[in-house]
Amino acid sequence: MDDKKRDAAMTNAWWIPVAGDDELVADTPLAVHCLGEPLVLWKGAAGVAAFTDRCPHRESPLSLGCVNEGVLQCPYHGWEFGDGGALVRVPSALPGVPVPPTGHLAVFHSQERYGLVWVCLGEPVADIPVITHDADPTFRRINNPVERWTTSATRLTDNFMDYTHFPFVHTGTFGRAQDTVVPRFEVEALVDGWFGYQYEVDVNNPDTAQSISGQSAPVLHRRMSTGFTLPFAVRSTIAYETGLEHILLLLSTPIDDVNCYFTFVVWRNDDFSVSAEEVIAFDRMIGAEDKAMLERLPGVLPLTQTGVVSVQADKGSVEWRRQFATMLGLR
Ligand code: FES
Ligand SMILES: [Fe+2]
Repeated sequence: MDDKKRDAAMTNAWWIPVAGDDELVADTPLAVHCLGEPLVLWKGAAGVAAFTDRCPHRESPLSLGCVNEGVLQCPYHGWEFGDGGALVRVPSALPGVPVPPTGHLAVFHSQERYGLVWVCLGEPVADIPVITHDADPTFRRINNPVERWTTSATRLTDNFMDYTHFPFVHTGTFGRAQDTVVPRFEVEALVDGWFGYQYEVDVNNPDTAQSISGQSAPVLHRRMSTGFTLPFAVRSTIAYETGLEHILLLLSTPIDDVNCYFTFVVWRNDDFSVSAEEVIAFDRMIGAEDKAMLERLPGVLPLTQTGVVSVQADKGSVEWRRQFATMLGLR
C-alpha cells in the first residue's frame, strides 16, 4: 500500500466536520477531529477558520480557549491568534518585543457552501460537490446538524450507494419487505460530476411519510438516481409521479478509521406547506435505521475485490469502492 498516496488523497479532499455556520457560536471555539487530526473551528473577522487544535507554546487545545474581538485566545497563557493563524499577542512579552516567528498556526482551507462548513487539510484537488438545485429558486434547502456515528465512513458510503438493503433495513419507514429483486441497471456518469445509476422503486408511504411525500396512497412509485463523487459524497435524487422532487446530499467525514461524522442536506421543490423540521424528521428516521445496522458491522469496509462478496445488484457500491481504491493507490 502506498501510504503517502493514500494519505494525500484523503487530506486533499473536502470534509464536513461541522454542519453549519450557525453551529459556530461567535465567542466559542469548537473542537472537531478530521482524519485523526484535532482541529479547532471558530469565527474570526474573515469568517469561519480551521486551525490545528494545538497551541505552539505548550500544546494546550485552543478549543478550550475563547474568542475575543476577532482573535482566538489560548486558555493556558493567553497567546492570541488571528486570521490566517497569525500569532498576534503574547501577554507575557515586554512592550515592543516581537512575537516568535515560529508561533504562527497551521491553517486549513475552509469555506461555506450549502449551509455547511467544508474543511480541507491539504490542498484541494477537486471542487466541492455540485448540487445545482441550490441555485434553483423553485427548490428550498433544509440543513441538518452533524451526527457522530461509531462506524467507518467507508461503511456509510457503501450503504448509501446500495439500495438492496431497503426491504430489510428500512421496513420501519419506506422499505417494502416484499420487493427484494433489483432489476439490472448500468453505472454511468450522471449530471454535474456524479457517477452512479438510475432506477425506479416502489416504496411504502406510511402515515409518518404522507406529509413529506404529499400523497396518501399506501405505496408510491419513485424514479431515483444515486451517485457519488469521491471520496465519500453521495447524492440521491427522488422524483415522485406528482412532480415533487426530493434531493439528498449525504456526507460522511472520517474522524478516524472507525468513527465518522454524518450529515445530510435536503432540497425540495415543494410548496413549503410542510415544515423543515417535519421533512428532515422522516429522513432522520431513515438514517437511524442505517446507523443501527452499520454500527454493528466490524471496523472498516474491505477495499479489495475479494474482501467481501458482491452480486450484480451491488454494482453501484462496487463501482464506488473500485474508484475509491484507485484514488488511494490500492489498485
Ligand atoms: S499553551 Fe497556549 S499560550 Fe501557553
Ligand atoms: Fe439506507
